[in-house]
Amino acid sequence: MSNILLVTSSPRGAESQSNRIATELATRLADQSGKAVVTRDLVSNPLPHIDGVFAAAIRKPADQRNAEEAKAAAVSDVLVDELLAADTLVIGTGLINFNIYSSLKAWIDHIARAGRTFTYTENGPVGLATGKKAYLVLASGGVYSDGPAAAMNHAVPYLKTVLGFIGITDVEVIYVEGLAFGPEAAEKSIAAAVTRASELAQAA
Ligand SMILES: Cc1cc2nc3c(=O)[nH]c(=O)nc-3n(C[C@H](O)[C@H](O)[C@H](O)COP(=O)(O)O)c2cc1C
Repeated sequence: MSNILLVTSSPRGAESQSNRIATELATRLADQSGKAVVTRDLVSNPLPHIDGVFAAAIRKPADQRNAEEAKAAAVSDVLVDELLAADTLVIGTGLINFNIYSSLKAWIDHIARAGRTFTYTENGPVGLATGKKAYLVLASGGVYSDGPAAAMNHAVPYLKTVLGFIGITDVEVIYVEGLAFGPEAAEKSIAAAVTRASELAQAA
C-alpha cells in the first residue's frame, strides 16, 4: 500500500503553524485510510544545497559517476524513492519573503529529477510522479489567499508549478494566514485551517 509522505520545513518546532496543521492533516488522512505516514522533517534532517557535484551526477548514468557524485545522487535517490512510494503528499511551509522555506526548496531541488520524476519527450517535458494528491499548508503573517497581497504569494504558484511539472496536478491548499494581525485574528485563522484540514481529510 502507498504511504502518506509528510514534508515539514519550518525551523520553529512546536511554534510552527505549518508543521502543526500539516502534521494534523497527515495524521487524519492516515487514521482514515490505514496508510502509514512517512515524515521527511527538513529541519531535523537538513538537506545539502545542490552543488556542482550534484549537477554533474544527475546528468550521467549511475555507473559513470565518481564516488563523490554517487554520494550526491544517493541523497536525491532516497528522497525520490520516498516520494514515489507515496500516493499522498502533505507539504507544510511558512511564507518566507514571499516564497517557501529554503529547506523545502532544497528538497524540491533533490526530487525534481530528469529520468525519475519527469522526462523530456518530443512533445516537451512529462511528469512521471503521477497518481498522487498533494496538500499544501501555507502559514503566513499576512493574508495572501485573496485580496491585495495575493499577487505577492509566490509560494503556492511555485509549488503548484513544480508539482505539476513532475506530474502532481491534484493539489489542495490550506492557508493559515493573518498570523501577524493580533492574537484574535491568528486564533480565528488557525481554527479555520484546522476545520478545512478536517474537511479535506473527510473528503479524501
Ligand atoms: C525571515 C522571515 C520572513 C518572513 N516573510 C514573510 C512574508 O514574506 N510574508 C508574510 O506574510 N509572512 C512572513 N513571515 C512570517 C511567517 O510566514 C509566519 O511566521 C509563519 O507562521 C511561518 O510559518 P511557520 O509558523 O510554519 O514557521 C516571515 C517570517 C520570517 C521569520
